[in-house]
Amino acid sequence: AASAPIVVASNRGPVSYRVREDGSLAAGRGGGGLVSGLSAIGPESGAVWVCAAMSEGDRLAAEGSGGRLDTADTGGHRVRMLDIAPDTFAAAYNGIANSVLWFVHHLLYQTPLEPVFDESFRAQWAAYEAYNAAFAEALAEEAAEGAAVLVQDYHLTLVPGLLRELRPDLRIGHFSHTPWAPPDYYRLLPDDVARQVLRGILGGDRAAFLTRRWAQAFADCCEQVLGAQTERENGITTVVRFEGRTTRLGVHGLGADGDFLRERAHRADVEERMAALRARIGGRKTIVRVDRTELSKNIVRGLHAYRRLLVERPEWRGQVVHIAFAYPSRQDLTVYRDYTATVERVAREINAEFGDASWQPVDLHVKDDFARSLAAYRMADVALVNPIRDGMNLVAKEVPVVSDAGCALVLSREAGAAAELAEDALLVNPYDVEATARALHRALLMDPSERAERCKRLAAAATALPPARWFMDQLTALQGM
Ligand code: G6P
Repeated sequence: AASAPIVVASNRGPVSYRVREDGSLAAGRGGGGLVSGLSAIGPESGAVWVCAAMSEGDRLAAEGSGGRLDTADTGGHRVRMLDIAPDTFAAAYNGIANSVLWFVHHLLYQTPLEPVFDESFRAQWAAYEAYNAAFAEALAEEAAEGAAVLVQDYHLTLVPGLLRELRPDLRIGHFSHTPWAPPDYYRLLPDDVARQVLRGILGGDRAAFLTRRWAQAFADCCEQVLGAQTERENGITTVVRFEGRTTRLGVHGLGADGDFLRERAHRADVEERMAALRARIGGRKTIVRVDRTELSKNIVRGLHAYRRLLVERPEWRGQVVHIAFAYPSRQDLTVYRDYTATVERVAREINAEFGDASWQPVDLHVKDDFARSLAAYRMADVALVNPIRDGMNLVAKEVPVVSDAGCALVLSREAGAAAELAEDALLVNPYDVEATARALHRALLMDPSERAERCKRLAAAATALPPARWFMDQLTALQGM
């Protein structure tokens, strides 16, 4: 009942349920940067977190309780999980959000991977509208008079506008965890859809982004696609006006949670995994990467760059291991399954080409294990983070924070994190495999004291805006409007 002073909405919530063989439910933590950031909202805030049931397990957990979940499973959060019809959910989440909108903002449509706007796209778009409407209705029910509602990401772009119509009293903010496409690329969406997405977000009082660059691209789209008016302060666009409404733009960079990570990375399960990794790697140097198996993360080009390194600099053969953890993601989508298969094939090829009885050049794992990721973070000599484009990328921030001896960071200049870590990371063009290979070589050769110094500064920059601050800053800005 309409009681919450703060309401958060995102597709993925803090918990996901799996049905065990005996039919009981196992609760697990949701993955990705969005959940990491939002998990910092304290239960004492009185916030309600509205999210979608994403699996059969989720639907069973939500059943019978009006979607209100046990706080023991949700890390103390009051969560309402919406049971959206499975077909509608699949079309909105897999079809529109993760195929079309995700691909547009990460510039992933490149021949031969082209967008198809046919009648099946139209059916999916109708489902996306219905799914957004279901969120807007639930939020209208949960929010107290004058409450602050924080709507998250590309799954829910229509919610601010729809909610505004239902509840004009609310303060509504939208936050994008992804990049935003520049206008020339954004315009590949059908005109009516391109306009509807922008208008939806502009239904809110604030539209916020992880970096200045993504906020500016959004403002440019509003100008060029909608003909909206924008205002600049000190050369930076801060306001968009459209159809009599004013939306303020905000930038909130999300940092790593240093206290949590340092504590978590020293528990026994992490130590155990470090011992296991050490047994496989011996005294060799390590190049570490950890990602969802995601096209935008550019894992295959990362492997090609490592291969170039072994070709151009044969002195590294037998001396280094590339630890690559690529966790399954969005496996309902064929392109993601194919991409996973390609990652596995390329790793096998490198191992066959260079490996021998005593040395396996690539140590690839495609099963999720947070403790093992932290173990690899601690042991990394070099961290490789080379996305084609990324809203922020928290791995780039997490590795320096927990690194034992100090690691060098090879980082794509197209990740949002590059804006904050440029001074001490080695920045690369993610498409340039040769340049990435050279950066890996330089990183491996870096003098240990320089590496430790840089790593210390990276860790300081990475934790400057911990998730709790990131969330409070957005909330305060919204409440102060
Ligand atoms: C990105 C998105 C998030 C999403 C996460 C994991 O970080 O910005 O909204 O939750 O990826 O993806 P998934 O589809 O598994 O929720």
